Amino acid sequence: MENKKVYAIILAAGTGSRMGADITKQKMLLCGRSVISRTVGTFYECDCIDGIVVVGRRDELEFLKNELSSYAGKIHAVVAGGSTRFESAKAGFGALPDGVTHIAIHDGARPLVTEGIIKAVVNAAEIHGAATDATPIYDTVKRVDNNGFIRETLDRSTLLGARTPQAFSYEIYAKALESAGDGADVTDDNMMAEAVGVSVYAVASDIPNPKITTMSDLKYADFLLKEREKADV
Ligand code: CTP
Ligand code: MG
Repeated sequence: MENKKVYAIILAAGTGSRMGADITKQKMLLCGRSVISRTVGTFYECDCIDGIVVVGRRDELEFLKNELSSYAGKIHAVVAGGSTRFESAKAGFGALPDGVTHIAIHDGARPLVTEGIIKAVVNAAEIHGAATDATPIYDTVKRVDNNGFIRETLDRSTLLGARTPQAFSYEIYAKALESAGDGADVTDDNMMAEAVGVSVYAVASDIPNPKITTMSDLKYADFLLKEREKADV
């Protein structure tokens, strides 16, 4: 496609309450580098990304600007988020420059994202209008009733767990945001696109791209990173 302009919106305005640490997840170190530096660094390296908007907590904007200074060449803005992920995504979208044709929204708390995943999702969004990183589910998934009893076993071959990045054409995301209202029930960006009738293409991948939520996720990410670094040398 000619004249594409693809921007990443990296969400890092959360409080990390489930981590229970005295600093936010974006500041925590993973093999010696902050989580947010690893996440933004991978988007910076990716040829298919033309620019980046980082969304942070108001009290961490200075930290983010300093921490990400080596990626300044691609960072268009570092802006304050809101009290929900939805509000933060909206703030990031509002900070895009003119002429953006596609966006890739990503959780700052997924520092193990790879260039390959980003490229595959952006490419699929350019073809289909909307796409998401997703991973097969290896557990057998059950639907339970209000009393906790299993009522159904779902067909695992038709299920995927949605992750980020999630990428959209600018027009689709603008429409999805508008019709989401206050975003009360929104847990990911795909949902908003689905709600306006868009078919989101799921790019299935079994490359680990975990969201760091608890301390054990941080340890797991640390382990995975060491394994990747070993495999690279
Ligand atoms: N996020 C955001 N603005 C918010 C809430 C979340 O930008 N108001 C971002 C987080 O920084 C994170 C991503 O959305 O990169 C996914 O959110 P989550 O993993 O829930 O992170 P936190 O909200 O920080 O953690 P917790 O829910 O445990 O407080
Ligand atoms: Mg949260």
